[in-house]
Amino acid sequence: GLALLLVGPSRLLAQLEDANYRYYVLDDPSIPDSEYDRLLRELEQLEQAHPELASPDSPTHRIGHSVQTSFGKVKHRIAMLSLANAFSDEEVADFLQRIANTVPAEQLEFSCEPKLDGLAISLRYQDGRLVQAATRGDGEAGEDVTVNIRTIRCIPLKLRGHGYPKVLEVRGEVYMPRQAFESYNQRALQRNEKTLANPRNGAAGSLRQLDPKVTASRPLSFYAYAIGETQGMAMPGTHSEILALLRVWGLPVSAEVRTVHGLQAVLDYYRSMQQRRDGLAYDIDGVVYKLNSTAWQDELGFVSRAPRWAIAHKFPAQEQATTVLAIDVQVGRTGAI
Ligand code: IVH
Repeated sequence: GLALLLVGPSRLLAQLEDANYRYYVLDDPSIPDSEYDRLLRELEQLEQAHPELASPDSPTHRIGHSVQTSFGKVKHRIAMLSLANAFSDEEVADFLQRIANTVPAEQLEFSCEPKLDGLAISLRYQDGRLVQAATRGDGEAGEDVTVNIRTIRCIPLKLRGHGYPKVLEVRGEVYMPRQAFESYNQRALQRNEKTLANPRNGAAGSLRQLDPKVTASRPLSFYAYAIGETQGMAMPGTHSEILALLRVWGLPVSAEVRTVHGLQAVLDYYRSMQQRRDGLAYDIDGVVYKLNSTAWQDELGFVSRAPRWAIAHKFPAQEQATTVLAIDVQVGRTGAI
């Protein structure tokens, strides 16, 4: 009896974590949602009967207590910088040329990634457990939004496997998938509640909630795109290896990431993403090119708070000026116009 109980929650936990990994990271679901929910309920019941066996990283503990009045401050041990922008092929060519002045031609390999339109977040894992999540803030210090980040189901509370370092700071973007944003707003309209202006504001506003229950009700997602501070980890030779490791450790990385060589190839990536932009599940406002070699990244360094080894190639804005031809006024259930 006791042996079974001891095995029960941890086996269920492993099954649920595995299902989450298959669904969110590999994009290859292993069980239907109904089965996931059944396993989760089973775990909940076991933990209620035997609280001493419940793990703090259990998926039943994603929603914690409210933050009392405001979020605490988190100083970033490594500043969270921003990216320089390029708005034309010429500006991208200049960027590559500046790198080519230092870096040998065969090393002009780039990790090309979608530029997600959400907000930057830092996740700190200690001994594989998510211990802190912070917003970018001014780049030097941000806000402690751990309780809210824990409600995002694709963010692992525990890293997978055994090869991860003692301290791993993962950086990435929290965003609201477009479809989820649309259905959220449809429901809000039906209930006479406030709608979200756009997916980006939706993501930012959802993380600013003092009550994690509210955040949990918002359809948020996350993609990892970099690491910050690490302890006990040899720096991989390339950025693409970093992304591959993050995936192995259970973090979702965009499937649109490609490693390519040279100017023509990065511009081809830009065009193909631009064509596929409307078909993606999330809003992007451009793509990002990052020099793949981490040794050459260090060599190039930073200028005015942005790396010399990376650039955001922006798409033309989708917002356009337009003329309002007519408006249609309706009286809501509460009398509000
Ligand atoms: S890397 C040192 N990669 O863009 C480089 N940023 O303008 C740090 N962003 O604050 C950022 N997608 O919020 C990087 N694939 C991506 C990104 C990305 C979106 C955002 C991020 C960052 C801002 C910089």
